[in-house]
Amino acid sequence: MIIEPRIRGFICLTTHPKGCEQNVINQINYVKSKNNPKGTQKALIIGASTGFGLASRITSAFGSGASTLGVYFEKPPAAGKPASAGWYNTAAFEKQAHEAGLYAKSINGDAFSDEIKQKTIDLIKADLGQVDLVIYSLASPRRTNPKTGITHNSVLKPIGEVFSNKTVDFHTGVVSEISINPANEEEIANTVAVMGGEDWQFWINDLKAAGVLADGALTVAYSYIGPAVTEKVYRKGTIGRAKDHLEATAKHISEQLKDINGKALVSVNKALVTQASSAIPVIPLYISLLYKIMKEEGIHEGCIEQIQRLFEQRLYTGGDIPTDAEGRVRVDDWEMREDVQAKVAELWLQSTTETLPQLGDLKGYRADFMNLFGFEVPGVNYQEDVDEMVAIPGLV
Ligand code: NAI
Ligand code: NA
Repeated sequence: MIIEPRIRGFICLTTHPKGCEQNVINQINYVKSKNNPKGTQKALIIGASTGFGLASRITSAFGSGASTLGVYFEKPPAAGKPASAGWYNTAAFEKQAHEAGLYAKSINGDAFSDEIKQKTIDLIKADLGQVDLVIYSLASPRRTNPKTGITHNSVLKPIGEVFSNKTVDFHTGVVSEISINPANEEEIANTVAVMGGEDWQFWINDLKAAGVLADGALTVAYSYIGPAVTEKVYRKGTIGRAKDHLEATAKHISEQLKDINGKALVSVNKALVTQASSAIPVIPLYISLLYKIMKEEGIHEGCIEQIQRLFEQRLYTGGDIPTDAEGRVRVDDWEMREDVQAKVAELWLQSTTETLPQLGDLKGYRADFMNLFGFEVPGVNYQEDVDEMVAIPGLV
């Protein structure tokens, strides 16, 4: 079929298998062009199909030659109906990995459930014995807690007071004022239940009890801090509470893994266009200004550049892993540079519907958004008939 983008708000209802494949190949080629450390040999990536998780899987496999096991939740294709992007990304990744002689298998299902955790443990036992790296990179609007059966829904709201600021509709370029009412206690607790560290903790409990974590195993989850302009809705809002919980969980897991010389870390990453971040109010305006400045400075990175740098220059230097005073790994250092943030703050005040096309990188934002779904990828012929019924070679 010939597949065209059909956008509805923060998502695109269609995806392009060839575009997704090309995105993955581009990321693989980027990693191969770098000087990679030995790093991980057997990695479990939870949330492996898009964004930072996919980049982590690619860096593990093509940077370190690791066997990788991916867990994700993606929609398979049906005749005339393309799969979700992460499905095609994973199909492309596993095809490339197998061609390179690398072990790559995956599990499609709800990572929050006990069932998928058990399935993953069984697969590790059967094929790998143990893993030395567990990347936790889930982003989801809801989670059913397997112990209570309760489904929690997250919200993106400020805490304590109404938040009013500018935002942009990145499709139309219209800059407007939005006001978001503060969350109540229940909404805060629900957001922490979805995006906090409880499920990461459950994973590590089960993996450790099953004996599938290697001596010296490392587990890493991803977090975000960001600037003053987004603080009230992000870091000091409901999602920030969840990230506080995630970061506290890292300390707890590190204690728990001491007897196997293991360690848990949170890496604070840069703001990037992903399916998760497009849905957060105010963030798209911030990202479009940030992209413009970081590209001008020659310090712009995407998911793959971020994660390759995380592995090479933070996690696997052979020495101690550098962290901030709170024990967090930082690869948001270039985003948070004082000169970059001063410039963002200045442009923020000047941003209007009329000025944003010059001040910000709306074009770059939109292109990245389309790329998430495999569209507008250079080198792909979108006039060509493509087979939507792509299978994932290592799907268990
Ligand atoms: P993403 O939306 O690209 O990836 C989410 C992944 O989770 C996908 O592989 C998806 O299949 C999987 N997933 C979602 N629900 C699942 C479920 N129930 N069971 C199994 N798999 C499931 O998100 P992104 O942006 O890569 O986020 C990953 C982490 O990075 C999140 O913790 C996020 O807060 C963090 N982060 C994101 C930043 C950004 O700007 N995008 C910046 C810094 C951190
Ligand atoms: Na991810």
